[in-house]
Amino acid sequence: MSGPGERFDLGGRKALVTGGSRGLGKVTALALAEAGAEVIVSSRRQEACEEVAAEIRAKTGRAAYARACHLGRWEELDDLVEAAYASLGSIDILVNNAGMSPLYERPSSVGEDLWDKVVNLNLRAPFRLTALIGERMAAADGGSIINVSSAAAASPHAGVIPYAAAKAGLNAITTAFSRAYGPTVRVNAIMPGTFLTDVSEVWDIKTFERDAEGFALRRGAEPEEIVGTMLYLASAASSYTTGAVLAVDGGYLLPPNAGR
Ligand SMILES: NC(=O)c1ccc[n+]([C@@H]2O[C@H](COP(=O)([O-])OP(=O)(O)OC[C@H]3O[C@@H](n4cnc5c(N)ncnc54)[C@H](OP(=O)(O)O)[C@@H]3O)[C@@H](O)[C@H]2O)c1
Repeated sequence: MSGPGERFDLGGRKALVTGGSRGLGKVTALALAEAGAEVIVSSRRQEACEEVAAEIRAKTGRAAYARACHLGRWEELDDLVEAAYASLGSIDILVNNAGMSPLYERPSSVGEDLWDKVVNLNLRAPFRLTALIGERMAAADGGSIINVSSAAAASPHAGVIPYAAAKAGLNAITTAFSRAYGPTVRVNAIMPGTFLTDVSEVWDIKTFERDAEGFALRRGAEPEEIVGTMLYLASAASSYTTGAVLAVDGGYLLPPNAGR
């Protein structure tokens, strides 16, 4: 390997990106293709995934596929994995990106349904996909798995208790899976801070701006600002990085009354 370009080259690689229809997943799927990978984009809505796959093909000339999957449903995860291998032939990069944190009024208003939805999407789905795909990667040529966690895992506030618990669990399984499937499969997590994707549309902007004054960079991030870390973790540039949880958060630090 020589120049920096080659270290980040993903030519011939095959990637599955969950939650690839918008936000961080969409910019990641596009960036992986720009670096040379074939990709399969997944979310609940087939049409939205088709649109992103078409955009990737048009912009990069790489093969790109779409496959709908409700990641909260255990039985659909096995189908997604089979479909991904059928389309791509192999998987070298898995990005467990889909996630969400619904608003709730107060902790006692969190019902079983909200708890299950949050934990199933943010923790159970990445567990199952990593188990199924990591095992196949380890039996073949290895690979890189990237779990998209959250700054909330390390610095939770009152409005995201189930989500923070699920993402903290995701950090834990990241380390455990790096041991399960090493040495050929690397498993890492990214803890994003506040990114201005669709999720920011429900934020109270005044409260957010006040909170952001406490970040080292004093602002939220554009979605594209996740791409450098994604390409680093996906590629040989991070060949000695595994079991790591990397913050990409602009120096995120929340006051005790954050979000309120
Ligand atoms: N934005 C931030 O500030 C921030 C901060 C910390 C962590 N994160 C994490 O970063 C990741 C991406 O966030 P984002 O801001 O890009 O979110 P987003 O814009 O809301 O996009 C979420 C993606 O996940 C898919 N999705 C949601 N529920 C799903 C389900 N049950 N099954 C399958 N796909 C589902 C959505 O597509 P469909 O609606 O078509 O299913 C969409 O593609 C998440 O894990 C999030 O927790 C984000």
